[in-house]
Amino acid sequence: MSAAEDVTPVLHPDGWALLEALPPYDPATALGLGARLREAGAAPATVAAALTQSRLRAAARGKLGGFADHMLFTAEGLEQATRLPVAARHADRFRRAGATRVVDLGCGIGVDAMAVAGMGIAVDAVERDPATAAVATVNLRHLEHAVVHLGDAEAFPDGLPVPRPGTPGGTDAAWVDPARRRDGRRLKDPEQWSPALSWALGLAGTGVGSVGIKAAPGIEHALVAPGGPAAGWSAAWTSVDGDVVEAVLWWGAAAEPGTLRSATVLRTVPGAGGDEQVQEAGTLTDVGLGPAPVGPVGGYLHEPDGAVIRAGLVAHVAEQLGGRLLDPMIAYITTDEPVTSPFARSYAVHAVLPWGLKRLRAYLQTQGVGRVTVKRRGSPVEPEELRRALRLDGDREATVVLTRRGDERIVLVCDPLV
Ligand SMILES: C[S@@+](CC[C@H](N)C(=O)[O-])C[C@H]1O[C@@H](n2cnc3c(N)ncnc32)[C@H](O)[C@@H]1O
Repeated sequence: MSAAEDVTPVLHPDGWALLEALPPYDPATALGLGARLREAGAAPATVAAALTQSRLRAAARGKLGGFADHMLFTAEGLEQATRLPVAARHADRFRRAGATRVVDLGCGIGVDAMAVAGMGIAVDAVERDPATAAVATVNLRHLEHAVVHLGDAEAFPDGLPVPRPGTPGGTDAAWVDPARRRDGRRLKDPEQWSPALSWALGLAGTGVGSVGIKAAPGIEHALVAPGGPAAGWSAAWTSVDGDVVEAVLWWGAAAEPGTLRSATVLRTVPGAGGDEQVQEAGTLTDVGLGPAPVGPVGGYLHEPDGAVIRAGLVAHVAEQLGGRLLDPMIAYITTDEPVTSPFARSYAVHAVLPWGLKRLRAYLQTQGVGRVTVKRRGSPVEPEELRRALRLDGDREATVVLTRRGDERIVLVCDPLV
């Protein structure tokens, strides 16, 4: 941790006051501002910490909106934190499950805990890193019934000062968002996460009524399948504006009975007063469909949302659209009609060509296309290389989709369907 990353100076009243008095962060003026503050007598460590927090607050706005302006961060804690609208959905699931006291086992800077406590549910937030726990304490300061404990989450339930599950007023739900990075690298093996996934799954046996475990979007479906280590749990994938942000394993009252897998698509939309809001476009639930039909390219192409693909629900979107796959192994759906779905991006197909740079270039030139968005599934061609190699100069835009049907490589030239 560098001196600037040390949050201690802003935990003191003079450091906090300096941070709160800073103008909105501007990287172009931050150095000069720092020099002026030091010349005016502020301690260098305090100035460094306040400017770092100011920069992190600005960086956090995308995840946390205006709340970021009243919070403290560690750089790592911000990177790992849940986006607030997604955290609000976790909290709402606990509310619907009837939870009254949630333990957050590895709370980081406290975003999930803030969302749960914001619903009026009591939270015990446990964090083992002292600086992160201090930051979480500041971030939860206005929320009644939220307490941060410095300690090892894996001591739950007996070794932590939290009300025992199964007792009156006891902890009735547990949330775990394990640390999934070490030394800046993502840890693929869930047993390397902290806490490890197998330990977190064991929370189902501690007497709580609901458990949620945030996991990587790439978790295996076999986990929740009958006979799998998380049989009886449901896995819920979520995307925000097309980015798959998480898969959460839910158990007990917080799980969807009988649902192994689901996909929720969230979108940012303009809200009141110029602010943005994140809204649910839809949730798709696994109803055990077989594989989607496969057939020829129609007039329309549909690219399923990443959450749908990760959840293995492409056949469900194909059925909803009345469509078919171009290839049984590739997640592109085609239809003859201009149908749309919240679970896919749709395009009108103008041409289907065998793959070949010269042929594609000639076609795009005849159409006056100068700018292309390149998408690919099942093609080795690098989109950036293709864009450069095309050397186009027309006025129109087009979406070029590189894919294949069996062994045949094809290119679809499309326009987004509005
Ligand atoms: C992914 S972050 C949590 C982010 C949090 N959900 C949020 O939205 O702000 C995981 C946190 O768990 C903490 N952690 C990992 N293992 C722990 C353990 N055994 N006991 C307590 N905290 C732990 C890490 O220090 C890290 O801050």
